[in-house]
Amino acid sequence: MSSINYSEKIPNNVNLSDDRTLQRALEHWQPNYLQWWQDMGPEGSQNFDVYLRTAVSVDPQGWAQFGHVKMPDYRWGIFLNPAEQDRKIHFGDHMGEAAWQDVPGEHRANLRRIIVTQGDTEPASVEQQRHLGLTAPSQYDLRNLFQVNVEEGRHLWAMVYLLHKYFGKDGREEAEALLERNSGNADNPRILEAFNEKTPDWLSFFMFTYFTDRDGKFQLCALAESAFDPLARTTKFMLTEEAHHMFVGESGVGRVITRTCEMMNQLKTDDVNKLRAAGVIDLPTIQKYLNFHFSVTIDLFGADQSSNAATFYSSGLKGRYEEGKRTDDHVLKGNTYKIIDVVNGQLVEKEVPMLNALNEVLRDDYIKDSVGGVERWNRLIEKAGIDFRLKVPHKAFHRNIGTLKGVKVSPDGRVVTDHEWNAKVEEWLPTDQDRAYVASLMGRVVEPGKFANWIAPPVMGINRQPVNFDYVRFN
Ligand SMILES: [Fe+2]
Ligand SMILES: [Fe+2]
Repeated sequence: MSSINYSEKIPNNVNLSDDRTLQRALEHWQPNYLQWWQDMGPEGSQNFDVYLRTAVSVDPQGWAQFGHVKMPDYRWGIFLNPAEQDRKIHFGDHMGEAAWQDVPGEHRANLRRIIVTQGDTEPASVEQQRHLGLTAPSQYDLRNLFQVNVEEGRHLWAMVYLLHKYFGKDGREEAEALLERNSGNADNPRILEAFNEKTPDWLSFFMFTYFTDRDGKFQLCALAESAFDPLARTTKFMLTEEAHHMFVGESGVGRVITRTCEMMNQLKTDDVNKLRAAGVIDLPTIQKYLNFHFSVTIDLFGADQSSNAATFYSSGLKGRYEEGKRTDDHVLKGNTYKIIDVVNGQLVEKEVPMLNALNEVLRDDYIKDSVGGVERWNRLIEKAGIDFRLKVPHKAFHRNIGTLKGVKVSPDGRVVTDHEWNAKVEEWLPTDQDRAYVASLMGRVVEPGKFANWIAPPVMGINRQPVNFDYVRFN
């Protein structure tokens, strides 16, 4: 039952052919999607054969099949994890009741909003990354970029399926609008701010896939707990794809660091100008990129106090990260949680009802998870014998939502004056010159097994292929 039917126009494991109306509606959306991919997807890549993995079943073992595929022919489709028999709602006011196989009328607007917001991020990141193929540091990296792109496209399909199947006419309209908004478009932007930022260079791409795709992981994990069973099942399968995106980010930043450390040891210097003259990205610049992507990404979790977050939880729409593993009462009335407030120019902790602080709970879980990879990057620096450590900035640094919006806080968590902020911001966030320097390194390197000077090769290839495998055939 978990295997995927590829004989149909839209590959699926949801017996789409049993529901002619839905099938027709999705087949009507499909050419619009393909047109969007042509217009807004990876630039100049339409004729390439790319060594991609395609889902052939949703079994935990061996769902992926690898082979060279022309990207517009990638079989985007609809894949849900198998249903769990007699699944019960396991948090909120409906705890213990049967999970919903359809959308309860009273939660319809909120569920649609959750699905649209999630769905909007998927094509947004493809748009943000669409120029990167022109400056890939290797074939291996180019292939990874395209893999991430086609899977984000499939994540859009996942959300569009839910909109079409469960939300009728307004669902279909929302599905069209998902192809009409564009990242960074002044008139019709993507919904969330981080998805309107540029991803202009590969260091940004690796930071984005490490930090921002990890936001995706946490949002999907929270939705995988949902009482709305089709949403839980579809997000569970999306999570299996998301893991690779974060791997691309973690290993990508790691390889940039490795190369920089090599050069630092070779030239016996930590002088930024000398390292830049040698064509690698100095560690302070990597730290600034980290500060930027981390702070922009943690804003995605929303305001630290939110009555919507409380409603979403209590009504069973969205759980916490690993809800099922927690040992509290899963209702959370009367529980409290500490958020950060600003009193007399100082950051102080403030206890608030936990239900209202669930965005902050998810943000804190995210922060714990993202620190792990930063520690692994530090081990690379340590192993190279270099006295420098990367650090995740304080969560109040450079925030633009909730209580901390606009408060000037240093990366080490001190509230600072405008004067100090202005004097130091160039040490904390990438400057135009930093970005221009990183951009100057970006040049296309695509001979098999060759890598741009600023990045080390990976330790291993994809799917046990050698590093110099022809991951992309340019025809
Ligand atoms: Fe995604
Ligand atoms: Fe992703």
